[in-house]
Amino acid sequence: MTGAGPDVDWEKLRAVARDAMSRAYAPYSGYPVGVAALVDDGRIISGCNVENASYGLGLCAECGLVSELHNTGGGRLTHFTCVDRNGETLVPCGRCRQLLHEFGGPDLLLETPAGILPLSQMLPQAFGPDHLST
Ligand code: THU
Repeated sequence: MTGAGPDVDWEKLRAVARDAMSRAYAPYSGYPVGVAALVDDGRIISGCNVENASYGLGLCAECGLVSELHNTGGGRLTHFTCVDRNGETLVPCGRCRQLLHEFGGPDLLLETPAGILPLSQMLPQAFGPDHLST
């Protein structure tokens, strides 16, 4: 799986997300989540949710993903998937759509229960870095 072309192997990406989900730390919600994304240089990165006894401090799986993005060389996200404990496709929460927008922009492709959709349809009229430079 390389680049952002139509040959992207979503099944492989989902498998990486499921593997990450298996390492989630979610003792409070009992709701492990795993995510995986393709980067524009061909890298695959992933993340899992990490909760905290101080409930509001819990980190969504996407937090780990964007941290890994930067910690492994940066770049732009091109394709993203998120899975629940059953390995089923899950839509990212609203806050995480904003995280994804920062590093993938409106054209980032998301796997959703309604099919593959650009982030622009999941986070319409998004606020982003461009607003700060105008
Ligand atoms: N969660 C994520 O990790 N990502 C999402 O996009 C949806 C929600 C986590 C947060 C919390 O640990 C658990 O799922 C239940 O909300």
